Amino acid sequence: AARTALIAGNWKMNTVLPEALKLAAAVKDASVGAPGDVAICVPFPFLESVSKVLAGSKVGLGAQDCSEADKGAFTGAVSTGMLQSVGCAYVLTGHSERRSIFGESDALINLKTKKVLSAGLKCILCVGELKEQREDGTTDKVVAAQLAAGLKDVSEEQLGSIVIAYEPVWAIGTGLTATPEQAQDTHAAIRKWVQGAYSAAAADRLVIQYGGSVTPETVDELMACPDIDGALVGGASLVADKFARIVNFKA
Ligand code: G3H
Repeated sequence: AARTALIAGNWKMNTVLPEALKLAAAVKDASVGAPGDVAICVPFPFLESVSKVLAGSKVGLGAQDCSEADKGAFTGAVSTGMLQSVGCAYVLTGHSERRSIFGESDALINLKTKKVLSAGLKCILCVGELKEQREDGTTDKVVAAQLAAGLKDVSEEQLGSIVIAYEPVWAIGTGLTATPEQAQDTHAAIRKWVQGAYSAAAADRLVIQYGGSVTPETVDELMACPDIDGALVGGASLVADKFARIVNFKA
């Protein structure tokens, strides 16, 4: 399928402003000849200034979370309208850290996902199984349930603005990358689920990223798999030369 790859960095709760600006400038330079699309999901306070650094480049700006509400008395929350007004193109929803640390339910993730879509932004919806679930052989079932709940009431047209990030929870920040076979199998299962829930054309268009300890050493063989269309990179996206190599993967 002629899908354009998307390599996205997720900085999580890291960097202070001077580091953020320096790292963003390095990503901009490194992405000039990149084979696919590139994005960085940076902390809220740095979005506007990073947006200026990225201006005129191919690097898209992303946020790591958003509110499910439009505006009002929600102290500390950040709306999709705010994100759009500072130049965001992408928002992550359903990240495993939001699910486990912040207790976000599938229902809340669905509300956030729909809010991102209705703001005209692209949504990177993250799914993935726990270690016990991988060992129990229930990975495909768990991921299908997360997709069904996360994409509830999302139309086939809206699905065009969705990227799925498959992140096995046991591989996040652990240095334990899923093997290309494990990742490919689950990506194929995700695409098959989308085919059943939407259509063959929708499944064929869908960009599915792998996330979980992606490094310069593992990116090429992951990207060579037929159903792996990108990567969502945590730790290695904070190291300029590592992320530079990842965005310039060789498939
Ligand atoms: O969003 C990114 C993922 O959670 C992966 O993080 O590359 O540090 O394992 P990691």
